Amino acid sequence: MARRKLVVGNWKMNGMRAQLPEVEAIGRIAATNPSVEVGICVPATLIEPASRVSGAAFIGGQDCHMKASGAHTGNLCAGMIKEAGASWVIVGHSERRQDQGETSADIAAKATAAHGDELKVILCVGESLDVRDAGNAEEVVSAQLLASLPAGAAADWLAIAYEPIWAIGTGRIPTIEAVDSMHKALRSALASRIGAEADAMRILYGGSVSAANAAELFAVPDVDGGLVGGASLKAESFGPIIEAAAV
Ligand code: PGA
Repeated sequence: MARRKLVVGNWKMNGMRAQLPEVEAIGRIAATNPSVEVGICVPATLIEPASRVSGAAFIGGQDCHMKASGAHTGNLCAGMIKEAGASWVIVGHSERRQDQGETSADIAAKATAAHGDELKVILCVGESLDVRDAGNAEEVVSAQLLASLPAGAAADWLAIAYEPIWAIGTGRIPTIEAVDSMHKALRSALASRIGAEADAMRILYGGSVSAANAAELFAVPDVDGGLVGGASLKAESFGPIIEAAAV
């Protein structure tokens, strides 16, 4: 099954209005690579201004609350993110699972809330170094995926990002064989829950994706794009990654 590559920047807690020209430049690169779906998940404060200048690149948020409104100081619901100009949102990033203690059940609820407000969702999963070293990463991440998967998950609104925690921001990536094997395991876990729909669902790789390793990663049959942190902050470093995904 041919799946359109999806390459998404995750700006994390980086980016002020002064960086909007980078968003614009990334949008221009997206326009020249129409075979790739390109987006940038910016801090919430930048969603509205970034969405005005991002052109062919979509703008996404980095998290949303599972409730639609209420007494949740400091949080944003999916509808707010959507109204500001986002069309996608990340849920379950390991930094939030760790820093905010989010559980897989929370993440499934967030994904459901996002879908209810017509946001598309990137759902993140990934193992710690301890789990990788213990040799059961595929089992652990498959279980995490199934526990985080919202009811009614479908490829037209949900993508998975496999991000080994030990590869995030470290410059280290798993071997290509390990990425291949993990993505196959995740697709078969998906198939056990959603059947043939699993063939259409995009599974991104994330964690130290760079211009140097993107082509090799994206050539893996079950790698359908990337979730890119540090290298997405500048068009100069993100551009070659987008181009590596183009067909
Ligand atoms: P990195 O981050 O590309 O800087 O490793 C990826 C992510 O955390 O989404």
